[in-house]
Amino acid sequence: MIVDLTDAQLRRALPTKWGSTEEGTVPAWVAETDYQVALPILDAVGAAVADGMLGYAPWHDTLQAAELDAAFVAFAQRHWGWTLPVGRSTVVGDVVAGLRLVLETLAEPGPVLVPTPHYPPFREVVEVTGHELVMVEADPDADDAALDLAALERAIVESGARTLILCHPHNPTGRVHRRHELEALRDLTRAHGVRVVVDEIHAPLVLPGSPAFVPYLSVDDSAVLVTSHSKTFSTAGLHAAQVITLDDGDLAAVRGVPHAQNGGASVLGMIAGTVAWNDCDDWLEALRERIAEQRDLLEKMLDERLPQARVRPVEATYLAWVDLRAYGVERPAEAARAHHVRVAEGSDYHPGLAGHVRVNLATDARRLGLVVEGLAAGVLR
Ligand SMILES: Cc1ncc(COP(=O)(O)O)c(C=O)c1O
Repeated sequence: MIVDLTDAQLRRALPTKWGSTEEGTVPAWVAETDYQVALPILDAVGAAVADGMLGYAPWHDTLQAAELDAAFVAFAQRHWGWTLPVGRSTVVGDVVAGLRLVLETLAEPGPVLVPTPHYPPFREVVEVTGHELVMVEADPDADDAALDLAALERAIVESGARTLILCHPHNPTGRVHRRHELEALRDLTRAHGVRVVVDEIHAPLVLPGSPAFVPYLSVDDSAVLVTSHSKTFSTAGLHAAQVITLDDGDLAAVRGVPHAQNGGASVLGMIAGTVAWNDCDDWLEALRERIAEQRDLLEKMLDERLPQARVRPVEATYLAWVDLRAYGVERPAEAARAHHVRVAEGSDYHPGLAGHVRVNLATDARRLGLVVEGLAAGVLR
């Protein structure tokens, strides 16, 4: 059910991941998959293009927005047993645009906490919205990638932060935060008047056998959720994401902004999202199984070629956070690039952290093997 695309197909399909990477180098950096988009999505988008559905995208109160909203509500019920009321979402162009809109409209003045390592645009979105950025750095030697609640509390008290951006499941560590961690985070942030803005774009990608995904809004109804089908279903270029809030005042504030503050969504993205949430469960299950195989293969190959590498258990996402400090190379991604492999430098996710890379697993076994060989050639001296 999961169809691997050829290099030539990918070079055309993915202009950033593949198109901006020199020929002969395997791209395993930006978070896009090397698989064909699920057929129900390709069919629906193709039919919409044929019908000329290329007009302005509505944010809400129209058929397409209501369908996207209802489709996500049904997906959340089926997959996570979460009963989210309908009508709580506002369409935005993408998750980063949604985070920006939320920081601009709902965040109180004051610093924004970003647990680190983190998806790099989190820093940018805090800075472009005029907030002070407070990075709370995780210990790279910790046994697991659990939320460091004590460090978060210290940072809240010292900085006076009013907002925290949570990534759940986590890019780049691949962790599914546990219910008890989320409840503790809710209690901590409530006690200090901090609002959580949660990015759950990776939520459908919790792998078989991992802890269950608990939607953060299901434990904290004052948080704001930003999510999209785009990561799981490879539809980022179609531009549709959802900001979801359970509070009426928040909903009105997010929906009430002028067009210049929320203009990037597309109707095709809304159609793709509706089909992704409604009609692709079998494909999604096959995708998760495929990624779990790739994860196991990466662990095996690293064991053989780079036995001192430490990989965080990839519970969700198709991204592996690999600690190569034992090999003493400060910038292993740069070193691997010279050996025809493009992975993401760990310091992009954790400024100042040496010796880490983030590897995109969502490819085939042959390319993953080349990635490990390129990493090994780069760091073994
Ligand atoms: C945690 C996280 N949030 C957001 C995004 C980007 O989402 P979008 O393209 O909808 O802005 C990514 C992409 O990798 C991501 O990993």
